[in-house]
Amino acid sequence: MRVPDTFTIAIDGPAASGKGTLARRLAVHYGFHHLDTGLTYRAVAKALLDRGLPLDDEEIAAGVARNLDLRHLDRTVLAAHHVGEAASKVAVMPAVRRALVAAQRSFAQTLPGTVLDGRDIGTVVCPDAPVKLYVIASPEARARRRHAEIEAGSGKADFAEILADLTRRDARDMGRTDSPLKPADDAHLLDTTEMDIEAAFLAAKRLVDEALAKRQA
Ligand code: DC
Repeated sequence: MRVPDTFTIAIDGPAASGKGTLARRLAVHYGFHHLDTGLTYRAVAKALLDRGLPLDDEEIAAGVARNLDLRHLDRTVLAAHHVGEAASKVAVMPAVRRALVAAQRSFAQTLPGTVLDGRDIGTVVCPDAPVKLYVIASPEARARRRHAEIEAGSGKADFAEILADLTRRDARDMGRTDSPLKPADDAHLLDTTEMDIEAAFLAAKRLVDEALAKRQA
């Protein structure tokens, strides 16, 4: 008997581009499993911070990454700004990436389908994914969204500081040697600067429906 293939939607893009919200919407719509791979880097960073361990010791960090359980990633705890900053530093180390990519690839095989979002899903984690989306938005639009999110939640945030943080994070994510953030050659570009989530969802859904129809043909 032929083992059925899973179907993977790969979504990449910079911080606050809207890729996470889009990934969650697509996963609910298609009944697929979703993994926010940023949480895996954040979980490693948080474990190091909690234990007072250095963020730049590759052996220690890779050891934490190898023992990570993807079933216990708590978005609320991992969302803190300083954890994101630390994750971006941890993510430059190849041994950490190797360990996390192995776990992410194994998650991607889950039936009936999966949505993974991150920085290197279309290029490294799932290069054979039938649908790849690269979600972007201008730095100002992304900073505005992050600012509104923070103000709606815990309170005060400084727009200029958020913009500077995002720009610094982009530079680190795009400039690293191992698996830098960039679109796969066959990725569809989705610019959400002027789009709300509904418009982005409909544009992505059209591409996924096409790929699903092609697979069934
Ligand atoms: O998407 P995020 O802000 O939760 O990601 C946190 C950091 O993790 C980000 O700055 C870079 C890193 N990351 C990565 O290198 N590769 C991924 N696939 C996902 C995140």
